[in-house]
Amino acid sequence: MDSVYLHFLDSAVSLYNSPEMRLLVLVLLIVSAASSSPLQNANHIFNAIHSSMRQWGSSWNHNGMSFFLATVPQHTVLYHGSHSIEPETGPNWLAFEPEHALWFANIWMKGPSDSAHAATTERHSGYSNQVILKPEEVPRGWLHTYEAARDLRLLYVDGISAGKSVMGTLDSQDRILFNDTIKDSHDDQERASTACNIFRNDWGSRIDGLLRMETGFEVILCDFDRNMHRINVLRGKPHPENGNFAKPAGGEMWRLYKVIAERFGGIGGGRVQLNYDHFVTAYNYPTLDLFKESAEIPRLKNLSLKLLEPMKRDLHRLVMDNDPGQISYNWQDITDLIITRYANDLRYFVSRKLDTKNALQLEIERVLLPFIDFDNRDFNAEINRCAAQFLTASQPAGTLASVAVKSVTTSICTTLRSALDLKEYNNIVASIQELIDYLAWTVWRECPQKCQSDEVCFIPIWPGGTVEDRENPQCKDRANNSSGPPYWDKRPLVETTNSH
Ligand SMILES: *[C@@H]1O[C@H](CO)[C@@H](O)[C@H](O)[C@H]1NC(C)=O
Ligand SMILES: *[C@@H]1O[C@H](CO)[C@@H](O)[C@H](O)[C@H]1NC(C)=O
Ligand SMILES: *[C@@H]1O[C@H](CO)[C@@H](O)[C@H](O)[C@H]1NC(C)=O
Ligand SMILES: *[C@@H]1O[C@H](CO)[C@@H](O)[C@H](O)[C@H]1NC(C)=O
Repeated sequence: MDSVYLHFLDSAVSLYNSPEMRLLVLVLLIVSAASSSPLQNANHIFNAIHSSMRQWGSSWNHNGMSFFLATVPQHTVLYHGSHSIEPETGPNWLAFEPEHALWFANIWMKGPSDSAHAATTERHSGYSNQVILKPEEVPRGWLHTYEAARDLRLLYVDGISAGKSVMGTLDSQDRILFNDTIKDSHDDQERASTACNIFRNDWGSRIDGLLRMETGFEVILCDFDRNMHRINVLRGKPHPENGNFAKPAGGEMWRLYKVIAERFGGIGGGRVQLNYDHFVTAYNYPTLDLFKESAEIPRLKNLSLKLLEPMKRDLHRLVMDNDPGQISYNWQDITDLIITRYANDLRYFVSRKLDTKNALQLEIERVLLPFIDFDNRDFNAEINRCAAQFLTASQPAGTLASVAVKSVTTSICTTLRSALDLKEYNNIVASIQELIDYLAWTVWRECPQKCQSDEVCFIPIWPGGTVEDRENPQCKDRANNSSGPPYWDKRPLVETTNSH
């Protein structure tokens, strides 16, 4: 039984002792007992599907708990920033947005010890034999543009899985995929080589790379020769030598944030296809207590090896039994239909703008009218019709995605239908507020107004953002982007060893 439903019943039972209410509670109990077997964490599984490959939802739910098989179609263009003009062999990083890759051609991404030295020697050697730099300039690396030579078969780790934080963004990778073998949690180079070893040695080379997200989506690709064609290489703009070239440039970071904010709603362009018919998520293991440390942020950190074994086995089986490229049903489209249908209405119903019980119930009934047969009122049938609105015969039945979606729509429809029978205004609002808390849709975190063209709705995306940006997201321009205590842990970033 859904927890929201239990809470609803709890409060209903304690608030009402009238015979009428007891009858209603009885009816609700019968309905829930009759509904298909409950799915724990259905809300989180639904949200994982909805947020997958989206910069927005993945940033809110930054501790990804799920692994999906992913395909990047042949001819998709990806970018690599480097301090070398030579083609890459791999394992190495590729970004979906060129600004993300360019960041790694910056001189300060070159490595703390050799950057200044390299800059001077490179200047004396004459800047790729073509342009003599002015004395006040420091050279930058190269932007390499690649296209996929074939469909790339990837393992997608959801959330901000490329964020080197200690807040749980690496939990699923480090505990499940890497089985606690990564010694230094900031060493992404080790993750890249370990992942490629697993893919080659344990998984029969069925996976070409890892797909993750930070300020932008990225691929760690194991073998560039086999999988990519380089189609272009460009020299980056020289840094002005004003003594500050070794420090991250605010203007460039802001440009990168603006670019990836355009992908809040999805990576776009069919650049990634996920398999939603078969995926592995920590939310599907009832023995894993993910919310022990925080009610809002799931962790895999403090769970025993023994408890994690089944999930590790299932990840292995996912890869061995399925091809990333196999056609799957797009359940994300269905989560979009459901969220766009209900998100505004639910928020409206708790806004108290409808300030009488009759007005509120009339409006809730309007939402349910398509599911009510007025010749033949039937509480159960009305909920079932409502919950099945977006279910069709072409959908695979009985998969995790299908059960999670059905469970979430049943919660929504049960709460709304039950609200028509409640006697007190406050209890209607409270039951819908509980539903909202349970659903926890990330569309409800959006900035209060539409941002201007020089602004973005600024939220913490590793490594940037403040506590205030998380609690109260606002449109920000470059000048007022950041102040106050940082959201992410303050451990030093050892990012200089990886490049895009
Ligand atoms: C994970 O590591 C443990 C030792 O810590 C080992 O016993 C187990 O076999 C490993 N599991 C996998 C799937 O490699
Ligand atoms: C925001 O501004 C700070 C300094 O004011 C800068 O360090 C940081 O990179 C900026 N962040 C973005 C995303 O532009
Ligand atoms: C979880 O952490 C607590 C201390 O924070 C520790 O006492 C406990 O043993 C840990 N549990 C597991 C399963 O590691
Ligand atoms: C940021 O600055 C713009 C004007 O430059 C202003 O409209 C906006 O309210 C500011 N936002 C915050 C959160 O301070």
